[in-house]
Amino acid sequence: MNRHILAIDQGTTSSRAIVFDGKMRAVATGQKEFPQHYPDSGWVEHDPEDIWKSVIATVRAALRKAGLKGGDIAALGITNQRETVIVWERDTGRPIHNAIVWQDRRTAPLCENLKKAGLEKTFSQKTGLLLDPYFSGTKIAWILDRVKGARKRAEKGELLAGTIDSFLIWRLTGGRSHVTDATNASRTLVYNIEKNVWDDALLEILGIPRAMLPEVKDSADDFGVTEKKLFGAEIPILGVAGDQQAAVIGQACFEPGMLKATYGTGCFAVLNTGETLVRSKNRLLTTIAYRLGGKTTYALEGSIFVAGAAVQWLRDGLKVIGKAADSGALAAKADPTQHLYLVPAFVGLGAPYWDAEARGAVYGLTRNSGPAEFARATLESVAYQTRDLLDAMRKDWKGGADATVLRVDGGMVASDWTMQCVADMLDAPVDRPTVLETTALGAAWLAGSRAGVWPKAAQFAKGWSLDRRFKPQMDEAERRRRLKGWHDAVRRTLS
Ligand code: G3P
Repeated sequence: MNRHILAIDQGTTSSRAIVFDGKMRAVATGQKEFPQHYPDSGWVEHDPEDIWKSVIATVRAALRKAGLKGGDIAALGITNQRETVIVWERDTGRPIHNAIVWQDRRTAPLCENLKKAGLEKTFSQKTGLLLDPYFSGTKIAWILDRVKGARKRAEKGELLAGTIDSFLIWRLTGGRSHVTDATNASRTLVYNIEKNVWDDALLEILGIPRAMLPEVKDSADDFGVTEKKLFGAEIPILGVAGDQQAAVIGQACFEPGMLKATYGTGCFAVLNTGETLVRSKNRLLTTIAYRLGGKTTYALEGSIFVAGAAVQWLRDGLKVIGKAADSGALAAKADPTQHLYLVPAFVGLGAPYWDAEARGAVYGLTRNSGPAEFARATLESVAYQTRDLLDAMRKDWKGGADATVLRVDGGMVASDWTMQCVADMLDAPVDRPTVLETTALGAAWLAGSRAGVWPKAAQFAKGWSLDRRFKPQMDEAERRRRLKGWHDAVRRTLS
């Protein structure tokens, strides 16, 4: 029986396709970066055609490397950068505007107006989110407002909207499926996560016609089949999840109280809260971890916008390292008597501060502060922010106290120095798994288990294995002193 599964991981800076074999091992990968567009201050766009072409090219490359044909693949799973939206024509599949990316801040004024109108509570009660430009709803409204005739066309049913998964599925199925999954829907600001439906009242507030939105399915479901002409055979699309939720699955965080953090461009910590929809009092997000067999599992999420992006800044902006992997070694050389704090609010601050206007700052500079101290402050900022998220989670939910271990993945976790620093700041162990392709693995598992060729959740969870556990080594007084310094620095940075 055919047990190979293909996963598409459509991320913020690149698209990847990974072929997994029947033993759930990654056997071939295709990867392609695509251009980022910054048409105005705080704006971030992607050309949907770049995304589409990169996805097709990487799938073909992965199949070629694996020595397989489309017909050898049992099922396809898709995972994607979340919140990023596209509006396209139903007839032609042509987008009417570039994709507006999750990092884009252009709808900050609209969010402010909605807040002033006293609507934040309404939105957060229903969606678990906050009124921040991060989420898709205000971005769709922006496109409908700004592209001539768009709202009228949307009302007539001529335009469709969707997150990246939805757009890719529309294209992959030759316009036969306009669908998404519950995790992606839960990031749009117009999806009622308790009732699991698009919320008509919120759609009305934002002026988004219901007809342009996709049907919302379970994360493991029948999403359609790819057109034969693309990969030589029809491949069933059986799994879809936003990338952070896919990482929860790939990390086998299936039990309430289990927690993962993915350190990519940003850092997203997600705590499984089981069937309990926990309403955050500490500015975290409530979101759908996954919906399987019609049953919704919820999560608390802390989203940090800048993590790996700060290391890129060390490399490309400050030019103090040649490659990201050198950051830990440089940080290790820092003068221990200096106390530099970097608040990486390059695009504002996410959880738990949610300050769209704040910008980055450095405190504690002396004449001796140099590249090593900057590198240390940068990596430490990631650890401090993770600590802020964990504190908020523990305050929000008594089950959060069970979150005694953090499972980590993403590019930054290759740095032992950084992971030790995270363990020290959390005062909790940090577990790095052997398989670091957790996001793609999560999407592949959704598709593979749905296809009946991969094991069910409990068996899959047994396959999770530890590469290294980082145990906290810092003494309590030192940790307190540093956290105090960090919180002083954040306070001074807020707008
Ligand atoms: O919410 C945004 C997140 O899904 C983006 O993830 O890995 O593409 O930076 P990534």
